[in-house]
Amino acid sequence: MSHPPLTGEELRARIAKTPRVKLAFLPTPLQHCPRLSADLDVDLWVKRDDLTGLAFGGNKTRNLEFRMAEAVEAGADILVFGVEITSNSARQTAAAANVLGLPLVLVLRGEVPSAPQGNLLVNLLLGAQIRLVDVPSFNHLGPVLEEIAGELRTAGRRPFVLNHARMFARASALAYVEALLEIREQLAAHGRMADHVFVSSGGKGQAGLILAKKALALSVRIQGIASTRNEDPWEYAARTATDAAELLELGLGVSPGEVENTFDYIGKGYGIPTDAGMEAIVRFARREGILLDPVYSGKAAAGMLDHVRRGVVRRGATVVFIHTGGQPALFSQSHALVEYLNGPMRRSEP
Ligand SMILES: Cc1ncc(COP(=O)(O)O)c(C=O)c1O
Repeated sequence: MSHPPLTGEELRARIAKTPRVKLAFLPTPLQHCPRLSADLDVDLWVKRDDLTGLAFGGNKTRNLEFRMAEAVEAGADILVFGVEITSNSARQTAAAANVLGLPLVLVLRGEVPSAPQGNLLVNLLLGAQIRLVDVPSFNHLGPVLEEIAGELRTAGRRPFVLNHARMFARASALAYVEALLEIREQLAAHGRMADHVFVSSGGKGQAGLILAKKALALSVRIQGIASTRNEDPWEYAARTATDAAELLELGLGVSPGEVENTFDYIGKGYGIPTDAGMEAIVRFARREGILLDPVYSGKAAAGMLDHVRRGVVRRGATVVFIHTGGQPALFSQSHALVEYLNGPMRRSEP
């Protein structure tokens, strides 16, 4: 590192230079888990980013504070955002748009279920203008979004395409620099320091956690758990962290080799539940009353439990699991959950 470590206050002051609107309830609670801690022989805490507040909450609400500020500063009078039909990001964006009084065109890719559930149901309730598109992958959405923005401009509107904004990935990094600062302060109030942080990650939020660790010179290990093979979380986190470091004038970079992430807990693929993920969901629910989801946080928790089981985490270590949200998928995937609960072992015990 080319600079001496910053203090938490110095890092916060750097973040404060970036325009921001208020959307999230921060700091989110850091919940101690006494029963799971005893089961696992570690000191386990859950950072409740599922409680950020916007329409069932989640990690994206933090980054929307920066992304929406960029749209407001650009003078937008309508937002355009394109994602998968099941997206948690879409739901939180729709709620954020309502908080700011801005209309949102939500361009969704994927199959429409006969009875909308989960995030799609919430999007309908929130009143986003939904446009369904049939493109082969998420990466093909770009031209569609530009076309819609063009139509809106012709109609005299001032659209802002959230996907193509300068802040898109860096906002997540900034937001999770702040999340690590919160975790550090919350644990310090209990005389503890984190040894390990586990988080469901495609690379964006994790970039901020790594950046905060480097800027503050902490020894904590940040382990991301991927839920899709469609992204390269090592490269994406490194690039995003380096971009965000530039924005915060930290004078440091992050290389892919510094990013700890794994595809080991994805199972058959994105959005397809795994037994280990279901087991983690049931365990957190029954031991601590915390609800995880089958797409992201359940698989991440399965990864965390496996790291403890394999001894990667030493006994007595202070472990923080960041709950990134996503629970509406419990309802859109209720069949898989019911099947698991009624499975051969009749999962009535934790
Ligand atoms: C619940 C949940 N967890 C984790 C992630 C991944 O976060 P990131 O994009 O910051 O890597 C997402 C992203 O969609 C998500 O919805």
